Amino acid sequence: MTKDNQNSPDLKSGKGSKDYSKYFDFSDAKVLSEDEFGKRIRIKGREINIMSEPNHRQEKQRGKEDVQVLYGNAVPDELRGIGEGKHYIIYTFGCQMNEHDTETIKGLLEQMGYRSTEDRKVADIILLNTCAIRENAEDKVFGELGHLMHLKTEKPDLLLGVCGCMAQEENVVNRILQKHGFVDIIFGTHNIHRLPFLIKEALFSKELVVDVWSKEGDIIENLPKKREGMKAWVNIMYGCDKFCTYCIVPFTRGKERSRRPEDVIAEVRDLARQGFKEVTLLGQNVNAYGKDFTDITYSFGDLMDDMRLIDIPRVRFTTSHPRDFDDQLISVLAKGGNLVEHVHLPVQSGSTEVLKKMSRKYSRDRYMELAYKIKAAIPNVGLTTDIIVGFPGETDEQFEDTITLVNAIGYDSAYTFIYSPREGTPAAIMEDNVPMEVKKERLQRLNKAIEENSRMNNEKMQGKIVEVLVEGESKNNEAVLAGRTRSNKLVHFEGSKDLVGMLVNVEINEVKTWYIKGEIVTESVAVNS
Ligand code: 5AD
Ligand code: SF4
Repeated sequence: MTKDNQNSPDLKSGKGSKDYSKYFDFSDAKVLSEDEFGKRIRIKGREINIMSEPNHRQEKQRGKEDVQVLYGNAVPDELRGIGEGKHYIIYTFGCQMNEHDTETIKGLLEQMGYRSTEDRKVADIILLNTCAIRENAEDKVFGELGHLMHLKTEKPDLLLGVCGCMAQEENVVNRILQKHGFVDIIFGTHNIHRLPFLIKEALFSKELVVDVWSKEGDIIENLPKKREGMKAWVNIMYGCDKFCTYCIVPFTRGKERSRRPEDVIAEVRDLARQGFKEVTLLGQNVNAYGKDFTDITYSFGDLMDDMRLIDIPRVRFTTSHPRDFDDQLISVLAKGGNLVEHVHLPVQSGSTEVLKKMSRKYSRDRYMELAYKIKAAIPNVGLTTDIIVGFPGETDEQFEDTITLVNAIGYDSAYTFIYSPREGTPAAIMEDNVPMEVKKERLQRLNKAIEENSRMNNEKMQGKIVEVLVEGESKNNEAVLAGRTRSNKLVHFEGSKDLVGMLVNVEINEVKTWYIKGEIVTESVAVNS
């Protein structure tokens, strides 16, 4: 994980929450028809087919009904030729979960016959897979929509779609309907598998098609995925039930539901067979994996233990919640093998009072105890975190608690953010008396502390020989290769391009803040090359 914290977008933003009421004025909308399949309306001359729309109140509810696992065929034969000779572009914003959803969307589009392009002028369909976690992520998407409006004017047959977390937000969908009527398709995170049908509907009806499910659907297995490179993401669960008071994710991603272990294991085995060198198991809170099973007792620790038996060189996971991180998992991770020494353990704040207001369900002391336990059990572990500064009402002393925690734990790196109010979350209506200037200063101080710790940790690696998975050429210099250690540190070294995709041993001889440099010692044989 590298992050130029000084360039953190949060340092440049600093806006308060917006007034969305203007997007809810539908006085100029005309209802054309309404039945059990949805409603058709007209706004500013554009006909809109709303099959289903987002609703925050429903998104918050956690139904008791079982989630079914469906093994279907997402692209029926009659939709397979629709994209023949046509091209797509997908712009992805946000986290690894979104990146992975994009791989599924690409898989669906390719089964329909579409091919990828980087040239906007050639594209027949452009999708924005969006992120709602902070306001600046949303601003970027609306900025991009502004650019795409011009393209759409030049090329009216271009299909434009908005999907991902922003599509799950009522105010965003209403804003698009009101102000960006040139969009053709809006679909959410729960019904990606419906994309082929929505494309067909938009192509033939020429209407703006909105299909956003407020409640999570079933788990759909066997969706095609277009993966590239030697590293693969694998979803192990969907959704989050933690409802941290600042966070929109439980609304946009629905309730926690785990994939069956046999499906996850089969997918990872298949990736190993295909020659992938690394998998990252994904979930909003992987430590809650399996808690929703009613017929078997099987935890995340059990899953990781089963991962050890698969012949793939490296297995990672993200993200963890400290509250659910248990001793069984620590002892499984300590066995090593293909389970690498990296734990991303978001702390969010070093102050117990703030953690309470965030509803994180652990104290500063409990977190520190856990972090030390992990460090003791897994030598050379890379420990990284997420931290929010300027949570409503955060005092100077409470912020100091974060700095002292960072220095005590000695993280290898961290994603740091200024708190951003998200409509519909409890924190958005908490009183906030911390001026933006103060929040920015806190972010800068925090980034400095993280930097110092990262550098100190890197210095300890001087002279050591580490295993590196070679990922490609460095961005600025073709002669230099870049790769990652098991603990997820970025390493630069000189070597031939043929080494990309291999595991090699590198001796560290120079240390920087966000990466380390070294010299190749031996080319180790990749476990399943
Ligand atoms: N404001 C700022 N940061 C947030 N995060 C989640 N919600 C918000 C918010 N409203 C951060 C948390 C989380 C990471 C993915 O994003 O640190 O761990
Ligand atoms: Fe959001 Fe993570 Fe908290 Fe879930 S555990 S509500 S995803 S911050």
